[in-house]
Amino acid sequence: MATALTWPDRLVAAVDQGLRAIAAPPVAMRPSPAAAVPPTELTPGERRRSAALMRVNHAGEIAAQALYNGQSLVARSAGTRELLETAAREERDHLAWCSAQIEELGGRPSLLTPFWYAGSFGIGVLAGLRADAESLGFVRETERQVEAHLRDHLARLPEADAKSAAILSRMAEDEAHHGTTAALAGGAELPAVIRGCMKVGGEILRRIALIV
Ligand SMILES: [Fe+2]
Ligand SMILES: [Fe+2]
Repeated sequence: MATALTWPDRLVAAVDQGLRAIAAPPVAMRPSPAAAVPPTELTPGERRRSAALMRVNHAGEIAAQALYNGQSLVARSAGTRELLETAAREERDHLAWCSAQIEELGGRPSLLTPFWYAGSFGIGVLAGLRADAESLGFVRETERQVEAHLRDHLARLPEADAKSAAILSRMAEDEAHHGTTAALAGGAELPAVIRGCMKVGGEILRRIALIV
């Protein structure tokens, strides 16, 4: 178990997790919600629009992997680490679902994927170094903002793209669950200024990944 690992082992594991998130094809433990949706015809413009939105969501899931890995690396208690690792497993499904859907739509992931990972990993480490209540509070707020973002993207997807919509709907449900779990585990409400900074960071990712 991760709690028995020494610091060098944990660092090696963190590097391994990072390389896998960035470079290896993601593997889902659960089937994609898109698999149960019959295919629909999209115009070239609709495909481009959906692919761009799904690129943003893929970048967001890369960031989620990095945040959870960073927080988990320095988590103060085994209970918090376990909660982070459980959520990270579901985030890997999200990453795999988004990745497959981007390919289906003929799009590509963000060219800045390593940057999203590295930046978010650093933020995750900083959040994880705080007391557990604050670290879990960071999860709670992140998941709340991500869920709101997913609801916004659901409204912006082309109406015909039922497959992407099925993926985003399931992701939004999972994110809400992650947030509730973190709150129930003692995650504190973060100060408004921190919540505002997190929103700005998320908005930067949303705008840049939509283009590159
Ligand atoms: Fe996610
Ligand atoms: Fe999540």
